[in-house]
Amino acid sequence: MKKVISAFLICTVVFLVSCNQNVNLEGAKEVSISKKVDSILALMTLQEKIGQMNQYNGFWDVTGPTPKEGDAAHKYEHLKSGLVGSMLNVRGVEEVTKVQKIAVEETRLGIPLIIGFDVIHGYKTLSPIPLAEAASWDLEVIKNSAAVAAKEAAANGINWTFAPMVDISRDARWGRVMEGAGEDPFLGSKIAYARVKGFQGEDLSAVNTIAACSKHFAGYGFAEAGKDYNTVDVSLSTLYNTILPPFKATIDADVKTFMNSFNELAGIPATGNKFLQRDVLKGDWNYKGFVVSDWGSIAEMIPHGYAKDGKQAAELAVNAGSDMDMESYLYVNHIEALVKEGKVNEKLIDDAVKRILTVKFELGLFDDPYKYCDLEREKLVTGSKEINDAVLDMAKKSIVLLKNEKQLLPLKKEGLKIALIGPLANDKNSPLGSWRIGADDNTAVSVLEGLQAYSGNKITFSKGVELVNGETIFGMETSINTTDRTGFKEAIATAKNNDVVVMVLGEYSYQTGEGRSRASLDLPGLQQELLEEIYKVNKNIVLVLMNGRPLAINWANDNLPSIIEAWHLGTQSGNAIAQVLYGDYNPSGKLPMTFPKSVGQVPIYYNHKNTGRPTIPGPNQVFWSHYIDETNQPLYEFGYGLSYTTFKYENLKLSSTTVNEGNSIEVSFTLTNTGKYEGKEVTQLYIRDLFGSITRPVKELKDFNMVTLKPGESKTVTFTITKEMLQFYTANNKWEVEPGDFKVYIGGSSNTVLEADFTL
Ligand code: NOJ
Repeated sequence: MKKVISAFLICTVVFLVSCNQNVNLEGAKEVSISKKVDSILALMTLQEKIGQMNQYNGFWDVTGPTPKEGDAAHKYEHLKSGLVGSMLNVRGVEEVTKVQKIAVEETRLGIPLIIGFDVIHGYKTLSPIPLAEAASWDLEVIKNSAAVAAKEAAANGINWTFAPMVDISRDARWGRVMEGAGEDPFLGSKIAYARVKGFQGEDLSAVNTIAACSKHFAGYGFAEAGKDYNTVDVSLSTLYNTILPPFKATIDADVKTFMNSFNELAGIPATGNKFLQRDVLKGDWNYKGFVVSDWGSIAEMIPHGYAKDGKQAAELAVNAGSDMDMESYLYVNHIEALVKEGKVNEKLIDDAVKRILTVKFELGLFDDPYKYCDLEREKLVTGSKEINDAVLDMAKKSIVLLKNEKQLLPLKKEGLKIALIGPLANDKNSPLGSWRIGADDNTAVSVLEGLQAYSGNKITFSKGVELVNGETIFGMETSINTTDRTGFKEAIATAKNNDVVVMVLGEYSYQTGEGRSRASLDLPGLQQELLEEIYKVNKNIVLVLMNGRPLAINWANDNLPSIIEAWHLGTQSGNAIAQVLYGDYNPSGKLPMTFPKSVGQVPIYYNHKNTGRPTIPGPNQVFWSHYIDETNQPLYEFGYGLSYTTFKYENLKLSSTTVNEGNSIEVSFTLTNTGKYEGKEVTQLYIRDLFGSITRPVKELKDFNMVTLKPGESKTVTFTITKEMLQFYTANNKWEVEPGDFKVYIGGSSNTVLEADFTL
């Protein structure tokens, strides 16, 4: 193996020397990556260059539809002829070594493959789904969660994750909200940055870091009616002010790759979109990494009605700046001819290949293509205590307390008779969430196991409603029963005979994720009915929600004393939930996405515009912006989340009421823990720009921080308002500030409690 690597290096160096570039073997190490890349490029035939731009799915896992030419024999053939630059869904040291060996030892130039995988919330040991992690608002813990995911994936042969997904979304029907950071561009940007830093670490060439991928560029989260892959048509203002900021944050974090997206944006598919990829990304943002298409998205420009055939699709995509073709088989089949016909300039191919080779160099793959392929390390790292501790820490910090009216929570650890009810209460699969193809099924700690491990209470379990198994490409699609009530009787009897009922309801893991949009936001199947039946016999219910998107749980909110949002929390799920239910961890999460009262309110988000008719003009008036059958208020607003203790906000002070060039305003207030427990509060600062060349949202999150207080303790909390914070993408199509009047708001959610005015 080593012989081949050095043969390759020598070959490169010999070439450098022969090009009179004045290098010798020693000096070769110092030659910059860019020079090394150029020297390899000079060795490559056009077909070999195009090969680097070709990415194939592996031979086992599938995360998208496979066309008929995607058979294994065909792929092996291409792999051997140097026509593949990357593979996805090849995993585990043994399998990765196999394909890498072909690339390195059997192809003419021996260029190593970059191995991609959807490490979305962990590889085998799973952290909470990204939406849940976002609810922690804890950037350090989120970064660490990405770092341990990278470590475990890297130990399993992977060197590139297709994460983070940084798509902002305001529509809970969209199944992929589980994979993002919610609705807000500011929080989303901070989290996007933290995730990239976590995956890529300080040193990308280290064995425990991997390249990240900022996706899906752009607008994918704004699919009409929340239906996956659907049309997107937004204004330039929404694009720049809401959708693009998290992508820009990943550039600031030095993300190595971008993925474009399935959707069209204002009539042009993102994959063939020059404005997005060449003008904004590679132009204005000076991005140096490469862009991979989404799965088959180049070919999908045909049904979009943008390309008439595969050849034209390849032409449009490559000219628009898509550097690598994931599973469309179109670059490898058509680019050579397109170059020869003068439809694609070879300079663009060289640029794409340089970008791809640069990332391979940065990962250290040319120094050692098998650096991620160490069987010993794979065993040692996978499922290690360090990783499990990190995902447990992330999981408990992701939980949001939605209601706790009679202080039913935290539960006593001894002497309590608990009825544990619900189809997800002893399920070890759902908590793993969507996007976890590296993990084994049924490996989460269930709520039943968690509650048993953390207390001496007597716990009686009854399912009430069954899960129903079906078949899909994942071979594991399941849903919650919609017809069979035979389990109700036992569940009702169990509820009657116990002090407290813990009900675990929500969505099965694959009721969210890609291709899993829902038209209803209710509890699926018979769960709502079961909940109401149980309530008739025992009102001391703690509802533990397990889901991948905001749900409309009005009845539960109106009737139940306690509700916690526990999302799909990953491998350590049950332990995290038990720690919160028993008060070992005082919940501190805040919602990163608005929970609607009904699906008809969607899209619903806190940073909406005011409209010309925002309030009721007088008694019995109908002509204002509202519904006649629902309020405008959400069920739970963005930023909302309770604690076992309570916090009081008071004494808002501004150091000045004017922001000028060079000065800033200090905003301070007093936060007091007025309850009985030590607790952590995410304090939030919002700003409203009252008038603008483009109308401005009623509130925008501009900063937040976390404050831990003992019972009775007070602290002065300070934020700084700078001029830069007031910038937005204006009617001049520029990021700039517009002088005028502003409001600042402070609180523990977007429903703020303190406010003051200032001017610029
Ligand atoms: C399609 C998804 O949209 C994308 O996010 C994912 O990375 C690829 N499939 C690969 O699985």
